[in-house]
Order: sequence, then C-alpha cells, then structure tokens
Amino acid sequence: MIAIGCDHAAVALKNEVIKFLTENGYEVKDFGANAGESADYPDKAILVAECVASGEADKGILICGTGIGMSIAANKVKGIRCALCSDTFSAHATREHNDANMLAFGERVVGVGLALDIVKTFVETEFSGAERHVRRIDKITAIENKYFK
Ligand code: RB5
Repeated sequence: MIAIGCDHAAVALKNEVIKFLTENGYEVKDFGANAGESADYPDKAILVAECVASGEADKGILICGTGIGMSIAANKVKGIRCALCSDTFSAHATREHNDANMLAFGERVVGVGLALDIVKTFVETEFSGAERHVRRIDKITAIENKYFK
C-alpha cells in the first residue's frame, strides 16, 4: 500500500497521482488535504511518515508547493528516508542507492507529466541491495540511533 498526503498547495497534483497509482493497480491510502482544506505541511507529513514507519504502508508520497517542507518534516521520523525529487534520475537513484521509503516533490516545481514519471520510477525501482549501499544506509541508521529518542 502507498500512503499519500499533501497540503493545500498540491491537492490537484495529489489527485492526479492517486488516479495514476490506482489505475496501475496500487492500493493507496489518502491522508488529504482535500479541496477547500487549508493544511500545514508538517501535519500531513507526519501522518504519512508514521504510516510508513509503522510498516502499514510500503512507501509514502508527499506533495506540497515545493516538496521541501514535506521532506524536511518526514525525515524527522525515525526510519524514514524521504527523497525530494524533481527528476526521474534522482527518483531511480534514491530507490537503488538509498532505499528511500518516501518521495516528495512540489506542485509548483514539476508539471503533471513529469510528476507521474517520477512516481512511476520511484514505485517501480528496487533497492540494489549492494553491500556498499547497505553499509551507507546502516550509517544513516546509526545517526538516527545517536540523535533520536
Ligand atoms: C505553502 O505555501 C508552502 O509553503 C508549502 O506548500 C511548501 O512549499 C513548503 O515547503
């Protein structure tokens, strides 16, 4: 299952992403925001991040005006590796190298076509599992363990 959330700046793009994912056979859990709702991005980011960190969702997608606030907030949750991507190369690399479990991007940054290509790349690309990438992710986890409660 893929969890998704946005703030008021990205409702239209979030709905396009949900349509794309459901049409391609993915189960999606939508945390809003919805049309007419004003939402502070950290309030949505934590809902999606907790859904992923708990294991309920396999991956999470966050969209705000830039994707920046959402990615910063999500990365405060232990176990979350949220990648801000505005291109498909980065979306591919962050799955293959970082085993990113969340994706963020901005409705004011990418158009619908590019956003859907980024989403497709992110959900379809597997982590490489290479020893060097595992070692580096383990070092990220060590930083979490040092600084998180
Ligand atoms: C909202 O205006 C905007 O600040 C938000 O969507 C996001 O871009 C923050 O990083």
